[in-house]
Amino acid sequence: MTSDILIIGGGAIGLAIAVELKLRGANVTVLCRDFNAAATHAAAGMLAPDAENLTDEAMYALCWRSLALYPEWTHKLEELAGLPTLYWPCGILAPVYQQHEQQNTLLSPSARESPAYWLDKTAIQQYQPGLAAEVVGGWWYPENGQVDNRALARVLWTVAESVGVEIKNGVSVEAFLQQQGKVLGVQTSAGVFRASHYVLATGAWSNELLPFPVRPVKGQMLRLRVPESLPELPLKRILYGENTYIVPRRDRTIIIGATKEDVGFTPNNTPAGIQTLLQQATRLYPQLQDYPIEEFWWGFRPGTPDELPILGTSPCANLTLAVGHYRNGILLAPITAAIIADLITQEKSDPLLSHFHYSRFLPQSTPMFTHSANFTNGHRSVATLDNLDRNVITTEDSPLIIAGKTFRSRLMTGTGKYRSIAEMQQSIIASECQIVTVAVRRVQTKAAGHEGLAEALDWQKIWMLPNTAGCQTAEDAIRVARLGREMAKLLGQEDNNFVKLEVIPDPKYLLPDPIGTLQAAEQLVKEGFAVLPYINADPMLAKRLEEAGCATVMPLASPIGSGQGLKTTANIQIIIENSQIPVVVDAGIGAPSEAAQAMELGADALLINSAIALAKNPAAMARAMNLAAVAGRLAYLAGRMPIKDYASASSPLTGTISS
Ligand code: GLY
Repeated sequence: MTSDILIIGGGAIGLAIAVELKLRGANVTVLCRDFNAAATHAAAGMLAPDAENLTDEAMYALCWRSLALYPEWTHKLEELAGLPTLYWPCGILAPVYQQHEQQNTLLSPSARESPAYWLDKTAIQQYQPGLAAEVVGGWWYPENGQVDNRALARVLWTVAESVGVEIKNGVSVEAFLQQQGKVLGVQTSAGVFRASHYVLATGAWSNELLPFPVRPVKGQMLRLRVPESLPELPLKRILYGENTYIVPRRDRTIIIGATKEDVGFTPNNTPAGIQTLLQQATRLYPQLQDYPIEEFWWGFRPGTPDELPILGTSPCANLTLAVGHYRNGILLAPITAAIIADLITQEKSDPLLSHFHYSRFLPQSTPMFTHSANFTNGHRSVATLDNLDRNVITTEDSPLIIAGKTFRSRLMTGTGKYRSIAEMQQSIIASECQIVTVAVRRVQTKAAGHEGLAEALDWQKIWMLPNTAGCQTAEDAIRVARLGREMAKLLGQEDNNFVKLEVIPDPKYLLPDPIGTLQAAEQLVKEGFAVLPYINADPMLAKRLEEAGCATVMPLASPIGSGQGLKTTANIQIIIENSQIPVVVDAGIGAPSEAAQAMELGADALLINSAIALAKNPAAMARAMNLAAVAGRLAYLAGRMPIKDYASASSPLTGTISS
């Protein structure tokens, strides 16, 4: 299935871009997982660049340019659809309970496009009868307004279909197929789709597909109906209060919004959420308390760390980004469509686009690692690399090679469980490791210690090994592996196709699922990954994984994080004996003696996280583990003496040193 332009996401942003591109002559397909799930349907449809009190001048300019497009844009769409959008420049009144020193000066007056009038207590009460007595005044923004977002969604869909946009509803995109900075296609629940150009417009779900920092911000909402007993609409303009907004529609419904909750994709309305909404709305406009309730719902805004959208070019030459519109997706739909279409069809880059570029979230290139770093812990000076006598390594050894990539260090570490980022940084330096495994899911969910990971480590020196920790099924692990590959790319490791595959359904012993692991490995190998599967120390499974094309096998020494040491020695020994690929002993090593022992067995490498992170002095333990890995490897190469049944004197009368 091919088209000129493939748009991923069928919310207001995706459809608006699709229609614009189609009207400019492109052949456009939209992939939409679930039309009704888009934030577009959950919104209230406020067009409120002023009332939203935006503090960013470029964002304000973008919102205002979009608002200015609204009359003509909705008119054109209505003509094409033969349906109304119910665009209504009704104005927004923003009452306050306390007069602040500096009203409405978040942006300098020169940055403001629209008129804003301050109304004192008497004026505002006259202007809008029925406001709470405690309202002391407010701002009137006559040029802000609303559109019925659900009507707009219908119109956009109808227009898209009628102008010939191919819409595939119910198709979910699973992965981008990329090569050398180019998207080759997208893998979906309905097969692979290809196009010359791709647009990402996946709202709150963007981060499930590509590692841009977009997270869901849940909003709960409700709708009331104006009672029949009131012949006139009591509200004819939006009330934008402190922590609430009340949006009256001409059809006599009134929308009340919205909570702002950082709860991931947790569904449903909650008593707490609805109570807050009702309290705040009835505080501002008390007569609402007697209006009948018609509906409760919720949705997920696509939030970004700076609350600004991510627009424009991406790390891939043929992928354009239009995500992260947060509270202003409906408002920003027309301008987003226009500037993204300009960018794609004419390579015309709007001057505002640089402000919204994804690169603002990339780590600054400040080197974090210096090899002469001195680590101190209280008064004690701990091990430093400067003290390491590197000449001790005298035995010839070949480097560790995984999937064609050469590594000097045979110790891999992780980023989990550290008490602080600083401890983690110091330990990774002290370990001298070159491969650090990172839990993609924890980065995605910004779990403690994983927020600043991009900046915390020098990814020019350290090879990232994304892992699928937290995945219970093969499907889940495959999805997260794909995301990990994108994450590595974003950190500048364009050719990093490594994945540490973990499929762990059992939360108590954290034992990997052999069948799920094999299934996921087979699929990931097919997709070009270098797969490093975490497995129980099962020689048959290790062989099957090798035959499936895995880059290593990673048998566990004992359960993850248990520090129980080598409990699977006999099986690991068999795996080592039979393996043509590197064997990395992973999990359970608690002390350097055990690390050395695993290396003495002939393991090619070790992965150690908990034993370092949970040590009293992690950096010192990291160095100890490094030394142990080196010592164990040397011992393996040196060949240990045979074990004898009886004692043999240390100073024999006949020696082996000939004089
Ligand atoms: N645009 C208002 C909100 O997101 O709640």
